[in-house]
Amino acid sequence: MGEAWTRGTSSSGKPPAGIDTSVAHSARVYDYILGGKDNFEVDRQAAEAATAAQPHLATAMRENRAVMRRIVAFLAGEAGIRQFLDIGTGLPTSPNVHEIAGAAHPDARVVYVDNDPIVLAHARALLTGGGERSIAYIDADAREPDRILGAPELRATLDLSEPVALLLFGILHFIPDEDDPYGMVAALLASLPAGSYLAIQHPTSDFYEPGRGAAAAYSNAGIPFRYRTRAEFSRFVDGLDLVPPGIQPMAEWRPEAGPATRLSPVQAGAYVAVARKRHLPGPDEGHRA
Ligand SMILES: C[S@@+](CC[C@H](N)C(=O)[O-])C[C@H]1O[C@@H](n2cnc3c(N)ncnc32)[C@H](O)[C@@H]1O
Repeated sequence: MGEAWTRGTSSSGKPPAGIDTSVAHSARVYDYILGGKDNFEVDRQAAEAATAAQPHLATAMRENRAVMRRIVAFLAGEAGIRQFLDIGTGLPTSPNVHEIAGAAHPDARVVYVDNDPIVLAHARALLTGGGERSIAYIDADAREPDRILGAPELRATLDLSEPVALLLFGILHFIPDEDDPYGMVAALLASLPAGSYLAIQHPTSDFYEPGRGAAAAYSNAGIPFRYRTRAEFSRFVDGLDLVPPGIQPMAEWRPEAGPATRLSPVQAGAYVAVARKRHLPGPDEGHRA
């Protein structure tokens, strides 16, 4: 991937084919706030507006990466998970899921999914560069769980008879209620065996004064953005066994930093949780004498 490309224009001065620079994209806004180069003027304007509305946004996004690291390390370590399905993966930011999981299990398998063309371009470079067979990328929309689950790349990489960790970090708030994010998560989990895990990070305005936060800045830039309350968040993990410490403000999930340096809930502005799919007794189970 050339330097000119990463700065947002090709050597001819035009954006690469397939990349729409007329509207902001969430992956590129996130990239800009995290200090990356894969963004365009329209993304930078949206990012500046969002940061003006929520001054802790950059720190919160870094904490999102940190809690993702802690959670994937837990899943690969203590929970013994070797397979990961990361939806809304974003532009590569090291360490990524395959690096963290691979440190615990060299045979770990990871399927990344995103619907942004710029993420796809990076994924192609990642997958062709190292000749990785344990990592796959699917260019798909999270709102099409059947397409994701039926994708040949997923079937070739993951064994769906063995537990999988489904990772949804920083994506569900871009899926409005009318697109049924709860049904989407349920459909994905239904295809995974008992013992699988769901890990979610989701922004909330629960800790803000009414009307505060970055949602309006994203929406004004054409990116649907839906904060969810704790009760709305908890619907995603209904029927699953929450891993301690349960649903937490992002920085409070098994923190490494001491209380003095940890982000407060209002700074972090998001909930996280990890939950395990339990074994449901079959029709003949539970009736034995
Ligand atoms: C804020 S980034 C989060 C990246 C990464 N998961 C993390 O937490 O660091 C959100 C990502 O979700 C992707 N995304 C948003 N809506 C999506 C959808 N409907 N289907 C697939 N990906 C989506 C965006 O393209 C972007 O890469």
